Amino acid sequence: MMSTKFQGSQVKQLAVISLLTLLAVTPVFSQARAVRIEVPYEFTVGSKVLPAGTYTFSLSANDQGWVEVHSEGKAETRARVVTRLGGPSEFQDGSLVFDKTGTTRILSEVWIPGTDGILVHATPKGHTHDIVMSYSGGDTSLSGKAAFDRTCSRCHGPDGAGNPRADKFFNTTIPRLNSAVVQSKSDAELKEIITTGRRGMPPVETDEGGFRHRLPPAQVDSLIAYVRTLKK
Ligand code: HEC
Repeated sequence: MMSTKFQGSQVKQLAVISLLTLLAVTPVFSQARAVRIEVPYEFTVGSKVLPAGTYTFSLSANDQGWVEVHSEGKAETRARVVTRLGGPSEFQDGSLVFDKTGTTRILSEVWIPGTDGILVHATPKGHTHDIVMSYSGGDTSLSGKAAFDRTCSRCHGPDGAGNPRADKFFNTTIPRLNSAVVQSKSDAELKEIITTGRRGMPPVETDEGGFRHRLPPAQVDSLIAYVRTLKK
């Protein structure tokens, strides 16, 4: 029973990964391979514990084997690259993923816009993930439309009107978000679908399949408000 379930989710994860590849946009490499992010809590990078603050994470210019961490132009520490992940990231914003065990947060992944994700630490088990996006906090948060374009449109099409390639990939007509059927769902139902997934649709915040960077939980409500404006 357990193993069947596990295989099922593995298959789904594979499908999701190949979909990402299928729908991936041509990477636009920015000259500056760096991302500046406000980290709201103390965190560990390699053997160093850094206080909450704004940091710049960059790939070393001549040696791509390291991620360098700076604050206000001052080198704080660096972390060895374990491997590159998925990508190239199609997001304009970067993000960090921390492995959280108790109150300890260890920097695990660095996502710099326009390049692959970078794994710098992997906690074997018994941890949860904390994600910090480069736009989180302040007044620069994503609009509902930006969140939608980034999170849903690959599968549901621009304006929720459908994406034939995704339909073909999922071998179904993916529900049109501008349709009466979808629009008749309550906000709570939409939230449930987005955060837990529905049949063929993976949850957008899942830890699997690389979707966890797409939508910070705080953005779900503004995204739903935007989905309402798509109504035909
Ligand atoms: C990886 C592709 C993918 C992404 C990304 C995705 N969806 Fe879906 N979505 C699907 C598929 C496939 C279905 C059809 C599921 C089924 O019926 O098996 C679906 C179904 C739905 C439904 C209808 C569910 C129902 O009960 O009929 C809604 C509403 C929906 N998605 C909203 C969203 C929103 C909002 C987003 C962005 C936050 C999103 N989806 C992102 C693939 C995706």
